[in-house]
Amino acid sequence: METILITGGCGYIGSHTALHFLKYTDKKIIIIDNLSSGFLENFNYLDKKYPNRLILEKIDLSDLVALEALFKKQKFDALLHFAAALSVEESMHMPLWYYQNNTINTTNIFKLCLKYGVEKFIFSSTAAVYGEPKNLDNGITEDTNLMPINPYGASKMMSERILIDGLMDIQNKIGLKLGILRYFNVAGASMDNQNLTKNDGLGQRSKNATHLIKVALECATKKREKMAIFGTNYPTKDGTCIRDYIHIDDLASAHLCVYDYLDSIENREFEIFNVGYGCGHSVKEVIENIKLITKKDFCVELKPPRLGDPAKLIGNVEKIFKKTKWKPKFNDLETIIKSAYEWECYLS
Ligand code: UFG
Repeated sequence: METILITGGCGYIGSHTALHFLKYTDKKIIIIDNLSSGFLENFNYLDKKYPNRLILEKIDLSDLVALEALFKKQKFDALLHFAAALSVEESMHMPLWYYQNNTINTTNIFKLCLKYGVEKFIFSSTAAVYGEPKNLDNGITEDTNLMPINPYGASKMMSERILIDGLMDIQNKIGLKLGILRYFNVAGASMDNQNLTKNDGLGQRSKNATHLIKVALECATKKREKMAIFGTNYPTKDGTCIRDYIHIDDLASAHLCVYDYLDSIENREFEIFNVGYGCGHSVKEVIENIKLITKKDFCVELKPPRLGDPAKLIGNVEKIFKKTKWKPKFNDLETIIKSAYEWECYLS
């Protein structure tokens, strides 16, 4: 039986992806998480649902001694690397922390993967690596120039580069295969959630939410009084930023499809995939939909643009469709919002 290591497996994307692997494969999973932004509740939920299939190691990725001890103790067939700091705005104020936590920690764990013969490495990257590409009729493809406009995107771009160059430099003698997934805007909660009761279910937990859909739903469920639209003069149809929102379960399933794809390729060392739906919604549209679907009104202020925000990010996702068996199942904003709303009500 294969064993996979998931860093950041107690976080939002990491835990939903772990659930997907537990549900559709027989792999054993070891999660590394320092619980700084991840939640023990997510691990407990997975552990209860799939007993004896996963282990949590509370390790910080900067702790090389503890990390290496783990690699010595256990052979891993693959690494899914989610652990990272992930706020665009925060990165504008703490750039060095982003390079340390995201880029340097990725380099260190990658070196261990090479040393201990891990066969597959799947890296969580982001659409923020593209910056603000202009005049793209067909959306952003994987070949679009990388010109990040915030340290978060730069930290991920540099990580990608280090992983790819790292493989080339050693001429990849151990045959590691690398999959890089550039996520667009993920939202929603697990579609496996049914009759949510205390500590039962998976969705986005947050100590200090900044993501649009989460923040708006916290208003709809009265966890916050009001929210802001950051920027109303962008060169978009209604002046607010446009993003390509993808349901968390579809993003999770993309990881397994890329995993299988890496297994199937023989003469290719790495592949990069955009993961989104290829269509965009503006901030105003998202908030209007949330008010309609939840039938709740809340106060929305208009504020100046947030530092580091590009006007429009829509992925061209032809490549992942062409090369892998990925079939998104929840490709509409209403499903994303409804699942996230049920989850948010449960958290109330
Ligand atoms: N926004 C608001 N008000 C809020 C929160 C967000 O107007 O209270 C706006 C932002 O200004 C932005 C849009 O909503 O225009 C989306 O913002 P999010 O914070 O939800 O997401 P980002 O696009 O900033 O970033 C997210 C992830 C990144 C990822 C990126 C890829 O946080 O990790 O999507 O597109 F890189």
